[in-house]
Amino acid sequence: MSRAELTGSPGGPLRGRIAVPGDKSMSHRALILGGLADGETPISGLLEGDDVLATARAVAAFGASVERLGPGEWRVTGAEWTSPAESVDCGNSGTGARLLMGAAAGFPLTATFTGDASLSGRPMERVLGPLRQMGAVTEGATLPVTIRGGGLHGIRFVNAKASAQVKSAILLAGLRAEGEIIVEEPARSRDHSENMLRAFGAEVEVAADGTVRLGEKRALTGTDVAVPGDPSSAAFPLVAALLVPGSEVRIEGVMLNPLRTGLFATLVEMGADLIVSGERDVGGERVGDLLVRASALRGVEVPASRAPSMIDEYPILAVAAACATGRSVMHGLAELRVKESDRLAAIIAGLNACGIEAWDEGDSLIVVGAGGPPAGGGSVQAHHDHRIAMSFLVLGLAARAPIGVDSAAMIATSFPTFVPLMQGLGAGIA
Ligand code: S3P
Repeated sequence: MSRAELTGSPGGPLRGRIAVPGDKSMSHRALILGGLADGETPISGLLEGDDVLATARAVAAFGASVERLGPGEWRVTGAEWTSPAESVDCGNSGTGARLLMGAAAGFPLTATFTGDASLSGRPMERVLGPLRQMGAVTEGATLPVTIRGGGLHGIRFVNAKASAQVKSAILLAGLRAEGEIIVEEPARSRDHSENMLRAFGAEVEVAADGTVRLGEKRALTGTDVAVPGDPSSAAFPLVAALLVPGSEVRIEGVMLNPLRTGLFATLVEMGADLIVSGERDVGGERVGDLLVRASALRGVEVPASRAPSMIDEYPILAVAAACATGRSVMHGLAELRVKESDRLAAIIAGLNACGIEAWDEGDSLIVVGAGGPPAGGGSVQAHHDHRIAMSFLVLGLAARAPIGVDSAAMIATSFPTFVPLMQGLGAGIA
C-alpha cells in the first residue's frame, strides 16, 4: 500500500466559526455567462479552485477578458467567442467541460476540449447528442472532443435522467440558436443556470414540473455576481462536527438553494443537531448560517428521488452512516459510477478498509453503521477524487485509529482551503 499523502486522526472536539469557499457550480456559471454577456461582470466570492481556474482560462481563450482583481474578486468582459488558438484544457472538471461545450457551440467556431485522465474517461455524449440535434458538428465521445458550432436551431430535449450539466449546456447553446429551446427532466436538477441567466437579462420559464423553456429574449448583459458558500464543501466540516464528540461549529454564508440541500435534510432525519439561521437572498440564491453540534446519528433510507439534490454528497453521507446506529440504504446512485472516480466502488472499498461493512445492490448503497466510532486505521485509495479524499479524512477524525488517504492534491479542485480550515477548527488532518 502506498504511503498516505494526508491522514485524519482522532482528537478533541471541533470548535469555531468558518466560511467555506464560493459555490463551484455558480462560479463556473458566473465566468461563462460573464464571458458571453455584453459589458462587464464583476464577480465576488469566486471559488479559486483548480476546476474553476480552468474555466476562467477557457473563457479567456474564447476571447473574453478575464481579470483577477483580488482574492475571489474577478472581472469578466464578454465578447463574441472565436476559435481558441490551442485546445481548451478543462482539467478535472466535468461541469466546466460540458457547460463550455454548450456555450461554444452557439458560435461559428471550432474548438477541441481536453482534460486530465479522469475527465478523459467520463461520458460526453450526454451533451454532444443534444448539441448535434441543434446543428453542431462533433467529433469524439470522450475527450478530446472537437466541436464546430454556429447556425444552431431549436430543440425539445427530454432527458432520461436529471442532469444540470446537460440542461445547462443546452440552454447556453440555445442563447444563440433560432427557435424554441425546451428541456424536460424526470426530476429537477440544480437551477443555478436558470437563476443566473435571468439575472443577466435572459427570459427563462420554469414550469411546475421543472420543464425549462428559453424565451425570446436571449441577449445577456453583464451584471454583478456574488457567489455564496458552497453547500457541497460545507458538508465536510458539518459532518465532522456531527461525528466528533463535543464539537460545535458555525458555518456562515452557505448557499441553501432547495435543489442542493438534500444532504442537510437527510442528516436531520438521522438525528443531526443542525440549525439554520439568518436566511437571506444573495445574488438570487437563498443563503443562511449553519450551527452544528455533535449528535448521535441513526441509520437512514434515502430515496432515489432525493439524489439530484445531493448527488455530490454521498461520499460524506456514507461516512456519517458509518458512524450511525443501524443500517443506511441509499438508492438511485448509478451516476456515482461516472463522477471524478467510480465513487460507489471507492466508497465501499474505503469503508471496508476502515472496518465498516458496506456493499452495493444494483444502484443502491448499503452501509452498516458502527453505532459510534468505527475502527478506522485503514489506508484508503482516493482515486484522485477530491470528495473521496475529504470524506475519509473526516472519517479519520471520528474513528478509533487514524485513516490515511493516498492522494489528496485533488482537494484543490473544489476546496483549496480544506486542510487549514479544518485544522483551524482543531481537526487532526496533516
Ligand atoms: C453540476 C451538476 C452535477 C454535479 C456536479 C456539478 C453542475 O452533475 O454532480 O458536481 O454544476 O451543473 P450532473 O449534472 O451530471 O448531475
